[in-house]
Amino acid sequence: TLTQAEKAAVVTIWAKVATQADAIGAESLERLFFSYPQTKTYFPHFDLSHGSAQLRGHGSKVMSAIGEAVKNIEDIRGALAKLSELHAYILRVDPVNFKLLSHCILCSVAARYPSDFTPEVHAAWDKFLSSVSSVLTEKYR
Ligand code: HEM
Repeated sequence: TLTQAEKAAVVTIWAKVATQADAIGAESLERLFFSYPQTKTYFPHFDLSHGSAQLRGHGSKVMSAIGEAVKNIEDIRGALAKLSELHAYILRVDPVNFKLLSHCILCSVAARYPSDFTPEVHAAWDKFLSSVSSVLTEKYR
């Protein structure tokens, strides 16, 4: 679980990220598919070319879900319950992929806000994404 200081750091960096959430979402997915091409197998029905409408639309959805988790940082599990069932029971995304996407989101945020991305913010954001991933993969067990 995140400490109060870590929660505060997440809320602060999110205030910036939220203003460019759609672009950051699309960039994160692009990084995911480019660096870890095996992840593309979950999206056979998507046009994954640079800047495609589907990439942007999906990036936007992913970032809204992360925004919901930030807003409900005291109850991430409750906030993402439906999404957790979707990923576990319907989509059956292998949990390893959540680490890959989290890494790509972290890179996109770091690249956009280098001076805000202090070691403390890095650690807090990483821990937060890891909590989100745990919630989205816990139904598998
Ligand atoms: C769908 C969020 C990780 C594969 C979705 C949706 C959201 C979302 C909000 C749309 C749900 C809806 O339409 O009701 C997230 C978040 C993640 C995450 C917050 C982690 C931070 C992943 C990973 C993969 C994945 C790691 C696979 C590599 C998919 C697929 C869909 C989906 C295939 C359905 C796409 C479609 O057909 O429209 N996700 N996701 N997700 N997600 Fe995730």
